[in-house]
Amino acid sequence: MINDLDLEKLTDHDFAKLEEAVYTYQVVVIRNQSHLTPETQYKITKMFDPAMDTYGHGGMHRAKASVIARDLSPLPKVPQVQLLGNGLIKNYQGISEKLLVHPNHRVFHQTQLSTEEEAAGKTRFYRWHMDAALYRLNPPKVTSLFGFKNPGTRRQTLQYDDGSNSEIDVQLGTTAFISGQRAFEILSPELKDFCFRTKVQYAPHPYLWMSKARSRSTGLGMVSEGKELSVDELPPIDEKDIKIYPMLWKNPVTNKIHLQVHPSAVQDLITDGKRVGDLTKVREILWNIQRPSINPENVYAHEWKDGDLVIFHNRGVLHSVVGCLTPDDIRIFQQCNMASSDEPIPVTKEDFAPYATVKA
Ligand SMILES: [Fe+2]
Repeated sequence: MINDLDLEKLTDHDFAKLEEAVYTYQVVVIRNQSHLTPETQYKITKMFDPAMDTYGHGGMHRAKASVIARDLSPLPKVPQVQLLGNGLIKNYQGISEKLLVHPNHRVFHQTQLSTEEEAAGKTRFYRWHMDAALYRLNPPKVTSLFGFKNPGTRRQTLQYDDGSNSEIDVQLGTTAFISGQRAFEILSPELKDFCFRTKVQYAPHPYLWMSKARSRSTGLGMVSEGKELSVDELPPIDEKDIKIYPMLWKNPVTNKIHLQVHPSAVQDLITDGKRVGDLTKVREILWNIQRPSINPENVYAHEWKDGDLVIFHNRGVLHSVVGCLTPDDIRIFQQCNMASSDEPIPVTKEDFAPYATVKA
């Protein structure tokens, strides 16, 4: 948490410190930035990866059926910065009027909270993810999220509804984060070894591919009902654009190991060159590996204040939208990230040696 920095007056020295903090602490909150312009948000976000200029999803997220098209719209003056939020927004950053809808589990989860539960202030994680196209483009290194205006101050109770009875008291419209480093460290030695040996193949056009499928009640991966779009139903696929990444990524500053998998977009797992080849099984394996990482004690649910700029290490954490908002709950946020010029850093045998159970 930084309380004494004006991002409009950021020096190179400040930026170097900020960059180090983001990779060290994964989520950095800079308070009191209500005056921040979208141009500055874009400029600072780009400083983390100066070579690229393309928004994290390129233009792919605008495909109508994509599960993210409904959540984001580019600002007219700075199209790399996306407006998101809830309610009827008027005269904001060159947009005369726009009705925003906070993503709600009802459009994505297989099961839903009842009307009574919602009225009683219950909510869920929407979708655990990193910000990434996961097809053609490499995942952004960081994302900046600017909370210009937050909705009312009432609290909600986040339910997991996965048989665990877990719940968390949260601010209305919080953003939840979990650390990929912790997700790795809490694994058993056997699962750490499995993750080290395993690569993830993401579905081509993943957000279209999953558009008819439904999520688990925790937002951590999908339920397997065979509803994924077939190759014929997707735009043309270029094999070289399909993304296969290791499950473990190395932090470029701390050299720590992060478990970094976007569960809902995964199509297959490849361990020592051998594919699982069965989507239901793939998802069960990932659920067992990732579910402990979202236990309440591992979740940081940010308590937003108007004017907070949050910068997070998008290759080192997963995050989720949270909250069931009504049309009267006005929320105005801006998000910015850039697809990266380079791939995530893989974990080498040397890096993994302290965790290796079978010595080479
Ligand atoms: Fe996101």
